[in-house]
Amino acid sequence: MATTASALAKKALHAHFDVTSSNAGTPSPPNNNVHILLAATGSVATVKLPLITQSLLGYQNVEVQVVATKHAKRFFDADKLLRQGVKVWVDDDEWKNWVDVKDHILHIELRRWAHLLLIAPMSANTLAKMANGICDNLLVCTSIIRAWNTHNPILIAPAMNTYMYSHPITAKHLAYVKENMPWVQIIQPIEKVLACGDIGMGGMCEWGEIVGKVSRQFQLVQRRRSSFTNAGDEYTEVRMGNNAQDEEDVRMEEERNAKDSL
Ligand SMILES: Cc1cc2nc3c(=O)[nH]c(=O)nc-3n(C[C@H](O)[C@H](O)[C@H](O)COP(=O)(O)O)c2cc1C
Repeated sequence: MATTASALAKKALHAHFDVTSSNAGTPSPPNNNVHILLAATGSVATVKLPLITQSLLGYQNVEVQVVATKHAKRFFDADKLLRQGVKVWVDDDEWKNWVDVKDHILHIELRRWAHLLLIAPMSANTLAKMANGICDNLLVCTSIIRAWNTHNPILIAPAMNTYMYSHPITAKHLAYVKENMPWVQIIQPIEKVLACGDIGMGGMCEWGEIVGKVSRQFQLVQRRRSSFTNAGDEYTEVRMGNNAQDEEDVRMEEERNAKDSL
């Protein structure tokens, strides 16, 4: 039974990576797909993860895989993304996929696969871990961040309560990242009414702007309306041009989450 589970896990790992290629340098040449590793943390702004994912998949030659922290999983429906053909990796996958020394190590394979790590949103906790070199959650942000090929960019979009954002330790962590990790670009948070009801700085930059930054950086070209992607095992129609409905969905989800928050 255990052997079967392990064999299945290995098969899943192989299915998601071209393990023969090493992404050791700059983004792929134009005829190759751009691989975006989208990471989400335990911030309420993770409700926007599905929108960011679908929007990125609205560009030609883009593949997206998602990694989510334990707390991030509370804010979106991972099964739904999976059904749309997007692989979602979580901490448990790291050890489930590793049985003996010949096996691939998931956080290393993800780093090899990715041309860009986009952490949107980045919680105060994960920012603190990043600034301090902590890699205790194996897969999700911190092991990948620590094992990152620094020739490739990391984009981070901090999102937190105003008081967390204005705390001096946050400024210290952000300053450390800015000064010492030139491959990391910080997408500044914005001032807004936060899900908890506080008003002020710390909200995640608008998701459309985050996607725009990625598209400009990799010179992505938009797919035609209603095109198809094969980012995962199944082909999925990419929903495009319905931002008003998307925003409404997010607003309702945020309202639900805000009720759960302190
Ligand atoms: C409903 C809810 C919303 C939260 N939103 C945020 C947030 O926006 N930003 C943040 O830094 N932490 C937020 N937190 C706290 C984080 O989830 C917590 O610090 C967690 O340890 C982060 O872990 P991670 O960085 O591994 O995802 C929130 C917690 C709850 C319960």
